[in-house]
Amino acid sequence: MAVFAHDALKGEHVLVTGATGGIGSETAKVLAGMGASVTLTGRRKHKLKQLTAEIHESTPFAHVYTYAADLGNDEERHELVQSAEKACGPISLLVNNAGISGGGPVEQLEQDDLERVMHVNYTSAVLLTQVVYQSMKQQKKGAIVNVTSLSGLRGTYGGTAYAGSKFAMTGFTHSLALEAIEHGIRVNAVSPGFVDTEMGRASAQKKAERQNRSLSEVVKDSIPSGRMTKPDEVANTIAFLLTDAAANIVGESVKISGGSVLR
Ligand SMILES: NC(=O)c1ccc[n+]([C@@H]2O[C@H](COP(=O)([O-])OP(=O)(O)OC[C@H]3O[C@@H](n4cnc5c(N)ncnc54)[C@H](OP(=O)(O)O)[C@@H]3O)[C@@H](O)[C@H]2O)c1
Repeated sequence: MAVFAHDALKGEHVLVTGATGGIGSETAKVLAGMGASVTLTGRRKHKLKQLTAEIHESTPFAHVYTYAADLGNDEERHELVQSAEKACGPISLLVNNAGISGGGPVEQLEQDDLERVMHVNYTSAVLLTQVVYQSMKQQKKGAIVNVTSLSGLRGTYGGTAYAGSKFAMTGFTHSLALEAIEHGIRVNAVSPGFVDTEMGRASAQKKAERQNRSLSEVVKDSIPSGRMTKPDEVANTIAFLLTDAAANIVGESVKISGGSVLR
């Protein structure tokens, strides 16, 4: 079911990172259905191709551009933005969604793992934003949504690397929101708990194993709504934050937790 008007983002060019994954692909579909030109990126070319076909099935006239890139690589990040803008014009909306899990309890944490998680989840997102932000400033408008996590608002067992990277994204969201608003650019975050994607299921399963319980017990006991969040519920929240309906929402982290974290 389409929640937003088919022309709610007409004339906008949105870059969605992590579009080959669970949350990113749903976000791409929702935003394309709102009339935006969408540039979709991830490293897996076959997934980008498959997603483009799926979008065209539901939205035949959607304007979709794909570019495979490793966001951890300086050159590929710059080429992504350059080629996207050449194909679809200046980027006016950005969804920083790409991310990885990793790490573990502090005593077992390897430096390589810590640096890899911080590099993909935080540093690469900041550096990509730097490039896109220049373009938004010239347009004197824009909106950015960072996909953080409940782990960016409170610590978790074994979360030194992952939660650390997501806390860093929360800090980045607040800081850039304050700098950007005078240029007509809004910056916000969505902070989901367990989302029903490969990553979300794996991390819930890990928690279940550590507590010697079943996955469904963990989900039922830790989430008052009794279920994981669906990827399209995250996508719709991102979409709302990108529209003018959210015009005075600045620097927020919108939780999608099924009631598990209330503050
Ligand atoms: N699932 C959850 O429970 C949950 C909860 C809270 C927050 N989140 C956050 O939501 C975001 C999306 O998660 P998801 O559940 O959709 O995970 P996912 O299905 O594993 O998707 C992750 C995405 O990130 C991309 N990516 C990873 N490393 C990359 C790199 N070096 N360069 C470019 N792209 C890269 C992947 O693309 P390629 O593999 O094609 O490169 C993929 O598209 C992440 O930031 C995650 O931390 C997820």
